[in-house]
Amino acid sequence: MTRILQATQNAISEAASCLRAGGLVGMPTETVYGLAADARNGEAVARIFAAKGRPTFNPLIVHASSIEQAQTLGLFSEQARALAQAFWPGPLTLIVPRRAQAGLSELVSAGLSTVALRVPDHEIARALIRESGTALAAPSANRSGHLSPTTAAHVQASLGENVDLILAAGASTVGLESTVVDPDGTENRDGRPVILRPGGITAEDIRLRTGMEVSYYEACKASEPDAPPSPGMLLKHYAPGIPLRMNAIDLLPGEALLAFGSDRFMGVRGEKTAAKDLPAQARRNLSETGDLYEAAANLFAMLYALDTPGNKGIAVMAVPDEGIGRAINDRLRRAAAGTPSKENETLP
Ligand code: TXA
Ligand code: MG
Repeated sequence: MTRILQATQNAISEAASCLRAGGLVGMPTETVYGLAADARNGEAVARIFAAKGRPTFNPLIVHASSIEQAQTLGLFSEQARALAQAFWPGPLTLIVPRRAQAGLSELVSAGLSTVALRVPDHEIARALIRESGTALAAPSANRSGHLSPTTAAHVQASLGENVDLILAAGASTVGLESTVVDPDGTENRDGRPVILRPGGITAEDIRLRTGMEVSYYEACKASEPDAPPSPGMLLKHYAPGIPLRMNAIDLLPGEALLAFGSDRFMGVRGEKTAAKDLPAQARRNLSETGDLYEAAANLFAMLYALDTPGNKGIAVMAVPDEGIGRAINDRLRRAAAGTPSKENETLP
């Protein structure tokens, strides 16, 4: 079993030498745990794809410990710099042209001329990057298409022996991957930043902090709908092993409940069972008070907890499609699309 080390100074040093030697380390960040490797070492990066069973066309995010380091890796336009200054360290990833001299592996960009960069808002992550003396490529530390991990134990359960060592630093506070932004609107060709993947930072947050108008990328409006600019936007992603239904107003027999807000009026169809009568392993609440940030932080851990053979499916109550709720619904839709039975289909 791969070791989990509490992130002491000694553990960080050990993890940094593992990375320098081309190893893979489970790295805590404020969004989700990452599967980190030296971004300049092509073989190490290749091991990430292998460990995740990830399609090789999907490029990875490269993590830096400071804006200065990030600027040695990519070319920042004025807008990119303004966004970095407003949100780094934090859950924002910027897609910028690669700097040839930086020595990043080609695989990290999956052949694109751009690179995804981010400075995580997590002391341990930044200390690890500094000590390893390189930038770290790190997708979420889970098997491709499975749930994203928000604790070291999730990483261990999902990747097993495919990770060399895991640094533990509690649960990720944001609980959702970073917002991926094309800072110059290359995709919409209007010069305004475009959100390619919704996440912890919303269009509203960007407008408020920088005054920039931002749009969300819509694949259907693209000139080449078959080639989304951010391949991670593919619909099939984050799939639990049992069916997931969204916007549920009641439960089917055997289903687990993932509630949002009060579940007082939820019951099992055709039975007298109310939500409060469900066994503990079949009932979770993203946020009893209806707080979307709390819900985001709980999302993956709760899906993970309900995704057991004892439950026939997961019924998720409606989550408002506003602010960070948009990112939550995005992840839920992908989860629903990747599960054995589609939304609204009756269970076996
Ligand atoms: O919060 C996060 O972002 C986590 C933590 C570990 O930092 N990382 C993460 O990485 O989610 P990953 O590799 O799972 O997601 C990378 C996303 C994908 O949607 C990918 O398609 C997109 O960024 N991406 C990466 N490079 C890109 C590029 N050059 N152009 C467009 N999209 C890119
Ligand atoms: Mg992922």
